[in-house]
Amino acid sequence: MITKSKNSLKQFLFCILVLTVTETSASVFNNVSCSSNHTFTPNTTFNASLNTLLSHLSSNVTNNFRFFNTTSGKGSDTVYGLYMCRGDVPFALCRECVGFATLTIASSCPTSKEAVIWYNECLLRYSYRFFFSKMEEWPRHQVNIPLGDPVVLHSNGFYTALGSIFDDLPNQAALALRGSNPYAVKQENASASVTLYGLAQCTPDLAAGDCKRCIADAAAEFAVTCCGGSIGASVLFPSCIVRYETYPFYQHSGTSAPTTIKGKFVFFGFSNENVGFFGLKDSRETKRFIKVLICDQSRFSHNP
Ligand SMILES: *[C@@H]1O[C@H](CO)[C@@H](O)[C@H](O)[C@H]1NC(C)=O
Ligand SMILES: *[C@@H]1O[C@H](CO)[C@@H](O)[C@H](O)[C@H]1NC(C)=O
Ligand SMILES: *[C@@H]1O[C@H](CO)[C@@H](O)[C@H](O)[C@H]1NC(C)=O
Ligand SMILES: *[C@@H]1O[C@H](CO)[C@@H](O)[C@H](O)[C@H]1NC(C)=O
Ligand SMILES: *[C@@H]1O[C@H](CO)[C@@H](O)[C@H](O)[C@H]1NC(C)=O
Ligand SMILES: *[C@@H]1O[C@H](CO)[C@@H](O)[C@H](O)[C@H]1NC(C)=O
Ligand SMILES: *[C@@H]1O[C@H](CO)[C@@H](O)[C@H](O)[C@H]1NC(C)=O
Repeated sequence: MITKSKNSLKQFLFCILVLTVTETSASVFNNVSCSSNHTFTPNTTFNASLNTLLSHLSSNVTNNFRFFNTTSGKGSDTVYGLYMCRGDVPFALCRECVGFATLTIASSCPTSKEAVIWYNECLLRYSYRFFFSKMEEWPRHQVNIPLGDPVVLHSNGFYTALGSIFDDLPNQAALALRGSNPYAVKQENASASVTLYGLAQCTPDLAAGDCKRCIADAAAEFAVTCCGGSIGASVLFPSCIVRYETYPFYQHSGTSAPTTIKGKFVFFGFSNENVGFFGLKDSRETKRFIKVLICDQSRFSHNP
């Protein structure tokens, strides 16, 4: 059926086109959570404190610290805030991310007395409450990169590797708190051709025991939702972050200029429903690293 094949070829090319347009930004936004319980009135002293706080956060990132906390205002108009960049993120990208975060959190949460925003490269939060050194797991956000159930995700090796990584990372992230750049990574082979890469990081104001618990609780969320099969996932808490992927997402190059994609189009295989899985694999972190595309195997076939 030649017509059918031609149509499928068109669809195939269209898919590739869709893949090439979105992968451009360097700071990858995940989500923002604005408290609706506690709000302030625009143009009040609290608004001014918050403005000052956000500008202190974005100005201090130029001192090249991946973590910074500060306080502004007095009495009931006091605001506490911090930012944290992922430990492997180069300073230029950290500065860019914190810059985006301060602008976006102010415009997304114009009247919230408390908010948190997560990018792949950084998180930023503020509150009217003194929250430093308190381990907090809410609000939270989860990113799953689902691939249905391709062969690799059905293997014991995948779950063994994932388990081994996140058995170790709570301790490692807690131990790392004593270092100057406290984050932890671990990789494990899931099979001859697939390696899993995991990362865990707490805000460094936490005590070691709280960090360990935070990472363990966050990683436990993978097990709750993973089992449809996610080839990558992140769980983002206010106090810690965890992530795994099948590519070394945490090995940043030193450059930060936004790039156009230099990706490899990768075929992951067919599932048992003859659905093909494709992904765009980039050499460095850009937008959403792996774009998943599902195509019907029968459409590529020349058989009637
Ligand atoms: C952000 O989180 C909210 C609440 O959990 C959710 O409704 C929304 O879809 C999320 N946005 C994105 C971009 O994931
Ligand atoms: C809002 O307040 C209610 C009652 O005090 C509480 O149960 C809820 O968790 C609060 N929500 C947020 C987002 O703080
Ligand atoms: C806040 O102040 C600015 C200028 O000082 C004014 O333009 C704006 O209308 C005020 N907004 C509110 C909600 O009062
Ligand atoms: C950094 O933050 C402090 C307050 O914590 C503030 O006084 C200072 O102006 C900020 N900017 C720089 C560049 O350090
Ligand atoms: C930063 O956080 C620590 C707790 O980890 C706190 O003691 C300190 O006062 C905070 N610094 C500022 C400037 O708010
Ligand atoms: C507070 O007020 C200023 C204007 O003074 C405004 O630019 C800013 O976006 C307001 N909101 C926050 C969250 O800072
Ligand atoms: C993981 O796989 C790579 C490439 O196949 C291999 O070089 C390496 O030795 C393996 N590591 C372990 C711990 O098995």
